Amino acid sequence: MNTSKQIRILAIESSCDETAAAVVANGREILSSVVASQTALHEKFGGVVPEIASRAHLENIHPVIAESLQKANLDIHDIDAIAIANQPGLAVALVVGVTAAKTLALMLDKPLIAINHIHAHLQAAMLAEDSIDLPAVALVVSGGHTSLFDCESILDLKPMGSTIDDAAGEAFDKVATILGLGYPGGPIIEKVANDGNPKAIRFPRSMLDKESLNFSFSGLKTAVLYHCQGQDMKGENRVGQMSDQEIADIAASFQQAVVDVLTKKTLRAAEKIGAKTVLLGGGVAANTAVRQSLMDMCNKTGRKLLVAPKSLCTDNAVMVASLAYHKYNAGVFADMTLEPKARND
Ligand code: KG4
Ligand code: ZN
Repeated sequence: MNTSKQIRILAIESSCDETAAAVVANGREILSSVVASQTALHEKFGGVVPEIASRAHLENIHPVIAESLQKANLDIHDIDAIAIANQPGLAVALVVGVTAAKTLALMLDKPLIAINHIHAHLQAAMLAEDSIDLPAVALVVSGGHTSLFDCESILDLKPMGSTIDDAAGEAFDKVATILGLGYPGGPIIEKVANDGNPKAIRFPRSMLDKESLNFSFSGLKTAVLYHCQGQDMKGENRVGQMSDQEIADIAASFQQAVVDVLTKKTLRAAEKIGAKTVLLGGGVAANTAVRQSLMDMCNKTGRKLLVAPKSLCTDNAVMVASLAYHKYNAGVFADMTLEPKARND
């Protein structure tokens, strides 16, 4: 039995291609974090195959939960609440985690806490903070989302803009496929881009209309494709004949275009609400060029940047457990009618 005042939350995350579980005490003390990656299963398809993801979650969910308890040195009965990221994501993947979480909560008669995966990515940036200086603008850049929020608190995020087509991470993944670099694209593009010239090719920076806080990355992806294959797409893909330096220059120039758009739009959002703080989270936030550019922007404009540690940028359950602690304290619980939702509410 939990005799101390510590609130220990077991969280489950299965929204895409990572089966994760974590135990976090009082929203901050990470007692365990287990992530079973499915990258090897999806690699040959160049992206996540929902049916394969769903089956892999089914295989992994129990061992991952068991390992998270074992690493935390806790029995399941020591847990105070069960948290689950139930949206957004792949419905067939989310359903595995949601079913496991509901079963545990029902069986143990513990509170069930529903967490929005995107909001959890931002919580990863706030893990070490007691409070944040408001107003605050929050940017989530992941494989599925590129979104800006006006953040009143971690439980009160008002959407300001989002991508109208590809997410930033998706663009990294697709460009990596075009360049024959493998999957997932983000980390590989970043590595290859280190040897490239970010000014070598002037790829488009889609800002949409001037006032807009929405993003669009499909034009940039197509520009990279045209660059490699010719405008009419009839030419042969030249990637095979390109030197390592040419590939590195394309990767660096593409990455710079993404960085410029993310930075400019975030600054625009920050100016709009007079933000004192900028929050950054999501898989693409692991990218050093993205982090550095937002840090430079914040330093230049007198704002504080809070960014998720690199280890908590990509999908994990720590961010879910940590955010759940705030909901636990606020008494916001889900019930057995909880469903997975592919889209964001
Ligand atoms: O947040 P995340 O793990 O999953 C979603 O919620 O979508 O983000 C995964 C995305 C992938 O598209 C991956 O290529 C990208 O994050 N990513 C990166 C880096 N590490 C992961 N993109 C750019 N640079 C990185 N270092
Ligand atoms: Zn994510």
